Amino acid sequence: MNEMQRATWDGSLAVDIRSIDEQHQRLVAMINESQDHIQQGKPGGDLVYLIKKLFQYAEEHFATEEKYMADTTYPGAGAHMAEHAAFRRHVETFNLDLVLRTPHLANDILRYLWDWLRKHIAATDKKLGAHLAAKGVR
Ligand SMILES: [Fe+2]
Ligand SMILES: [Fe+2]
Repeated sequence: MNEMQRATWDGSLAVDIRSIDEQHQRLVAMINESQDHIQQGKPGGDLVYLIKKLFQYAEEHFATEEKYMADTTYPGAGAHMAEHAAFRRHVETFNLDLVLRTPHLANDILRYLWDWLRKHIAATDKKLGAHLAAKGVR
């Protein structure tokens, strides 16, 4: 199984809304933490715990963005929320019991996560960021 590229957050992913950028940075840090566990060959149970925390935090993050959308009557809310929902549906297909026994399978999960996250930030969250900035949110 090939190694995934390390997740990194830099200015190119900034949406320029502080709370959202901080949450994205934390998601990246959590992806890396999970990846470190795989590389260090740590027990699968710890890894599954970290991945569950990661999905939980993604939910909290989506809730933050969706609240911003509702509070500012964002016209793109429907399409944006549909992307969050598609992510959620995909995540439900991951078999964490398999990861328990074969930690390296988590590479695929983390790769999907990072791939989805950076594309979603670049295309979709940035539009939301611009809208929020225009509404005076910082
Ligand atoms: Fe989003
Ligand atoms: Fe986001």
